Amino acid sequence: MKFNSTKIILSLVAILTSSLLLTLNSCAPTKDIAAKSGVLLWSENCQRCHNTPSPSAFSAESWETIGMHMQTRALLTTEEKDKIVNFLKSSK
Ligand code: HEC
Repeated sequence: MKFNSTKIILSLVAILTSSLLLTLNSCAPTKDIAAKSGVLLWSENCQRCHNTPSPSAFSAESWETIGMHMQTRALLTTEEKDKIVNFLKSSK
């Protein structure tokens, strides 16, 4: 009898723990966009309206300015814009 109730309590604890973990998991925000790299965001977004500009086409300072202009046009978050601009500045 004593052994059985210990077993039941242990199973209850296990069930509660796993359902708590499941709940925590499903509540976690999807980090899809945040997880995207600059190069991926660049290839996905910058050809929606014109050809994807090559990183070598502009200087680092120009990319900063162009990034600000295209952020508003492409409706990007500042985080996304920064990733794209960092990629464009670094890969030449
Ligand atoms: C919603 C449409 C749209 C998207 C998306 C877009 N652009 Fe543009 N882009 C334009 C338009 C329109 C122009 C031309 C007018 C202008 O310069 O504002 C342009 C011009 C440019 C130019 C030329 C600037 C110059 O001085 O010659 C560059 C470089 C550029 N875009 C880069 C980008 C990059 C990088 C992205 C991705 C982050 C991007 N664009 C996304 C609409 C867009």
